[in-house]
Amino acid sequence: MLTELSELKTEALTALDSLTDETSLENFRVAYLGKKGKLTAISAGMRDVSPDLKKEVGAKLNEVREAITSGLATRQEALQSAKDASAVQGIDITLPGRPGLGVGSIHPLTTIRDLAIRTLRRMGFVLADGPEIETEWHCFDALNTPTDHPARNERDTFYLNDGRLLRTHTSTVQIRTMETVKDLPVRIIAPGAAYRRDEIDATHLSVFNQLEGLYVAQDVSLADLKGTLEFFFREIFGPQTVVRFRPHFFPFTEPSFEIDVKLEAKGKEARWIEIAGCGMVDPAVFAAVSKTRGDNLFDPENVTGFAFGLGLDRLAMILHGITDIRHLIENDTRFLTQFS
Ligand code: PHE
Repeated sequence: MLTELSELKTEALTALDSLTDETSLENFRVAYLGKKGKLTAISAGMRDVSPDLKKEVGAKLNEVREAITSGLATRQEALQSAKDASAVQGIDITLPGRPGLGVGSIHPLTTIRDLAIRTLRRMGFVLADGPEIETEWHCFDALNTPTDHPARNERDTFYLNDGRLLRTHTSTVQIRTMETVKDLPVRIIAPGAAYRRDEIDATHLSVFNQLEGLYVAQDVSLADLKGTLEFFFREIFGPQTVVRFRPHFFPFTEPSFEIDVKLEAKGKEARWIEIAGCGMVDPAVFAAVSKTRGDNLFDPENVTGFAFGLGLDRLAMILHGITDIRHLIENDTRFLTQFS
């Protein structure tokens, strides 16, 4: 039996050397180490080995099994690494990796919008929303805008075939909100897109972004309006910021103002930059809202309020010294990565 085992070992190890694929290696394993394999067949002879030889034969049996098993494993590993090597053939793994798509960053408009929202929320304003496709009623009539007002012109406003339009300002949300709220006070802000048929240039886009604000209660005053907006702009531009309220006209506020902030750029003379429109809500607006509501929550005799609308694109441009508004929509990564 000892000779038999030695012969089997030699035979097996020689056979192993010529095997070159997984199937033949598996066949080999079954043929030698399997339950019906050659080694099992020989070890059945242990029963007939005389007791004084059992130890020696047993040891030999283990040695042969060990040799065949590890020979097989070595062969399998060699085969696998040959396969790996051929898989990467022709590939230079020392080449540097390709730059990927890069990590994105928050758009400067989003950053300024979120900063504006955060600042106003601290003063008790909550977010409100309204559709971008609007009725003439919400965009003009309810906002006390006369039928012959130039803003209603087809050359200034995008009209849909059914008579609706793309809102020209976010002031529509003032009406939407007052039409639906249950109680006073109303203290909302509404950021969103507005549309105008403007010639596109460095300071105009046909789609731009505004942020509307509205505060209505029983005793809202012009002082509240000034205090709120001065605080807001100092939060945005810094505590030294000088804000100016310049008399203006809007159909839906009376009195009305445009707000300018004084900006001192290094080495340049300070400039006033127009940044928002605002005013005390015109009683005619409360009257229009009351008519659709059919109640007297917004009785013009009983409530007062202020409203403001500011240009978010302009805010971003001022804050970052952006000289062309078109940069904000072109998605040029050379521009955008400066804000990451
Ligand atoms: N809706 C005005 C505009 O787009 C801005 C504004 C809002 C003015 C609220 C007064 C009150 O120019």
